[in-house]
Amino acid sequence: MTSQYAPMIVTIDGPAGAGKSTAARELARRLGFEYLDTGAMYRAVTWLCLEGRLDLTDHACVAETARRAEFDFREGRVFANGQDVSDAIRTIRVTEESRFVAANTLVRELLVELQRQIAGGRDFVTEGRDQGTIAFPGAECKFFLTADPRERARRRQAELRSRGEEVDLDTLVEQIEGRDRRDAERKVGALRPADDAVVIDTSSLDCETLLAELERLVRCRRREAGLETPAESP
Ligand code: C5P
Repeated sequence: MTSQYAPMIVTIDGPAGAGKSTAARELARRLGFEYLDTGAMYRAVTWLCLEGRLDLTDHACVAETARRAEFDFREGRVFANGQDVSDAIRTIRVTEESRFVAANTLVRELLVELQRQIAGGRDFVTEGRDQGTIAFPGAECKFFLTADPRERARRRQAELRSRGEEVDLDTLVEQIEGRDRRDAERKVGALRPADDAVVIDTSSLDCETLLAELERLVRCRRREAGLETPAESP
């Protein structure tokens, strides 16, 4: 078979704390692909609404804010209407309130369209909840990462501890299970693996083992399809 170059989309979906972000960012770097964190988009809309003191349950108003907003993703930073919001969108408040934005059908339509505009026709690793099912159903390579809620809570606890915050493990397990339920029960863009996704439980996998496996599977898929990345081409 003659090798040719064609762009490829790799999707990584899964619940909060399953290790998606680190895996997606590093996988993109190893493959020479770009990386899109779609959770950051929902967070940025949430942040804009909170800044504007809007009622997050007012769907039309939240959607209008999303429609007017300009988002930019540069050098690992997130900009909303020209302002660097990379740190502001990671607060506990934004994390909690983002569920209202994530359940807003109008916002989801807008953001999925934006995701397709950004990643379409290019080499991208995109990460979220609905990337393999809704945003890029035709993606060449799909992963769904899961992990035991208690293990995810432990990871979250370690992350918070490194920032000087101490939170009880049972409280974190409860929060994580609550988020899982809301993600799975959402009427639109619900969290579920695509039928053709490779499901990986990361509970007992270290980061390097997971990355090596993801990279192996992507390269294998490219070879099967007779495609090569520019770096692999002679
Ligand atoms: O992954 P992260 O925690 O940053 O996601 C932030 C919020 O956006 C969560 O409420 C999550 O459910 C939602 N989300 C979504 N669809 C995506 C990515 C994230 O609904 N593709």
